[in-house]
Amino acid sequence: MKTTTDFQKMKANGEPIVMVTAYDYPSARLAEEADVDIILVGDSLGMVVLGYDSTIPVTVDDMVHHTKAVRRGAKNTFIVTDMPFMSYHCSIDETMNNARRLVQEGGANALKVEGAKEVCYTISRLTAAGIPVVAHLGLTPQSVGVLGGYKVQGKDLETAKKLIEDAQEVEKAGAMMLVLECVPKQLGEMITEKLSIPTIGIGAGNKTDGQVLVYHDIIQNGFGHVPKFVKRYANVNSSIRNALEEYRNEVKKRAFPTDEHSFTMKEEELLSLYG
Ligand code: KIV
Ligand code: NA
Repeated sequence: MKTTTDFQKMKANGEPIVMVTAYDYPSARLAEEADVDIILVGDSLGMVVLGYDSTIPVTVDDMVHHTKAVRRGAKNTFIVTDMPFMSYHCSIDETMNNARRLVQEGGANALKVEGAKEVCYTISRLTAAGIPVVAHLGLTPQSVGVLGGYKVQGKDLETAKKLIEDAQEVEKAGAMMLVLECVPKQLGEMITEKLSIPTIGIGAGNKTDGQVLVYHDIIQNGFGHVPKFVKRYANVNSSIRNALEEYRNEVKKRAFPTDEHSFTMKEEELLSLYG
């Protein structure tokens, strides 16, 4: 399994870091087989696999449950788990206990928190307790209500300056890595140059130290809105739909199952069964 030291080295060597989300055993297993560097158990699972319309309803219990499944599927991959909405804006004791559960029960190697100065104390406390922390800036979906929608962040001088400062603050607080979501590519590049920790972009251009995408977006398996920054590498929805329709039609026509998928018993036993 790669470690924080490896990610630091990858940044130094200019080797891109590949991160992908996974929420369950099969997706985690396939991600590990594809040799990705990091799996993110993102709270995007609320929208992608639980059918909520934001990440707000996702709980610590949900994240523990899904992290456990991902860990079973990817025993040798570094797993980052999102701390869900309001699970790290409560008292520090409660925050530490939530973090403990995600690591100890869930099996996460690191935790991700959204935000800047307001989470710096939490980042330092978690790091001091031995939990590596990934920061998340730019479009921070847990604050969608405050941001007023899912939009590109840091497009003007004022907000760009603030983002650069925020990035430097979370690094100073001890973050091991920074996810930058939905920012202009020039800002993605600038922040990547200014920081000594690796940056992972999603909609942040090609110059960040790594990239992350949502598993279901990559393979088109699901029903969420697909943002501009997503590239689709397969269409699993249509494969599944075709398979399910074919199954349905074959059952309706009694074309399934044939002998190939049936079991038989010996003739004499059948006769005595009839008596
Ligand atoms: O929850 C998630 O999938 C994320 C990534 C989009 C970075 O936070
Ligand atoms: Na997230």
